[in-house]
Amino acid sequence: MSVESVESRNGNYPGLGIGQPVGVAILGKGTVGSEVLRLIQEFSENLEQRIGGPLEVRGVAVSNVEKHKNAPEVQGIELTDDARSLITRDDVDVVVEVIGGIDYPRELVLTALKAGKSVVTANKALVAAHGSELADAANEAGVDLYYEAAVAAAIPVVGMLRRSLAGDQVQRISGIVNGTTNFILDAMASTGATYEEALAEATRLGYAEADPTADVEGHDAASKAAILASMGFHTRVTFDDVSCEGITKITAEDIDAAKQSNQTIKLLAICERLYDEDGKTKAVNARVHPTLIPNDHPLASVDKSYNAIFVEAEAAGRLMFYGNGAGGAPTASAVLGDLVGAARNKVHGGRAPAENPYANYPVVGFDEVATRYHVNMTVNDRVGVLAELTRKFAEANVSLSAVRQEESGDEAHLIVVTHKALEKDLRDIVDRLSRHPDVQQVNSVIRLDA
Ligand code: HSE
Repeated sequence: MSVESVESRNGNYPGLGIGQPVGVAILGKGTVGSEVLRLIQEFSENLEQRIGGPLEVRGVAVSNVEKHKNAPEVQGIELTDDARSLITRDDVDVVVEVIGGIDYPRELVLTALKAGKSVVTANKALVAAHGSELADAANEAGVDLYYEAAVAAAIPVVGMLRRSLAGDQVQRISGIVNGTTNFILDAMASTGATYEEALAEATRLGYAEADPTADVEGHDAASKAAILASMGFHTRVTFDDVSCEGITKITAEDIDAAKQSNQTIKLLAICERLYDEDGKTKAVNARVHPTLIPNDHPLASVDKSYNAIFVEAEAAGRLMFYGNGAGGAPTASAVLGDLVGAARNKVHGGRAPAENPYANYPVVGFDEVATRYHVNMTVNDRVGVLAELTRKFAEANVSLSAVRQEESGDEAHLIVVTHKALEKDLRDIVDRLSRHPDVQQVNSVIRLDA
């Protein structure tokens, strides 16, 4: 479409339609990069109208030009293995980073920002580890840094915190932000599969990577929790600040016990404020761990590989966002939304609201957080054991909300549910119980969110 036709079409909208092209450099052409390129071409006329000028892809940087040169989405577009030269070109306005990893993309994104280019990245690990450095560079250069796709792909949670709730007070964010682990836990609950069987199925279907460590150990969710907490609480929270426990120890027995008590186990990312006696925020915490939630909790019905984020804000109340949290097209959708935002700002001027860590609350770890616990132990089945073991909780000042005993032969399963207690106190009790002569084994300790 010509510059003239953009101007004439937008003639009724003062301020729009100056028709200036926006040059884009794309770093990476994996699943997401290829989909971004395809969608830019498919939606080009609509994007031009929404931006007020055409998007022009100046080049795509890949590590192996030979491997990609015949792909349909790069025909007529320069392919290069020299990313640094591409991003500093004068005719590049916005850089899209979809490479993955941390060190190399960090260097490229910083180079781009310092050269005055706005950046759109889908890289959660990069933002969670170095968000502060990148935001500072964007501020210094007066350009945009967008990363909607870094958290739950197409689900618009970063923009929601950045813009929609910018005037509210976010109190708590809890969410299922990893599709692979949600698929595994859901498969265990719905088919009775073991953890290993469900992981094998997730790998077969392509949800889990060949090395699923970042998913099953909770690291992927922890990066997303760091970004959500930073945006929600206006405080820098990094990956290293997030306490993290994955799902590798969850057994079919845990899933079964959850079902019997009308609960579901989900891997939740939880970001919350801690309050002082006057009700003022004294700190914030972000954590990831398997969590028992009641079956009527809004997150309990999120099945398969779907993601959902539940936000509680003072004025807005409770909000929930649900959808595809991974995959080429959903991630590309989020990248394109950011690209339109950054490109509009290049054409019409101005910057998007950025992360602002002015509140600067202390970020505390697990030990300071109070939560409820479900402790499952195998104990000797003799008179007085129940009373003696439950007394250990009372001695540590942890009160109990439910105790259940199931006998089988000369052993019994003792299941204890606590009221809110500090993580460090609970760990201390579990440690002492596991050494008690009547406790054969502490089978599981799972936190509750209710
Ligand atoms: N591996 C992630 C998931 C997607 O399973 O949700 C990318 O963050």
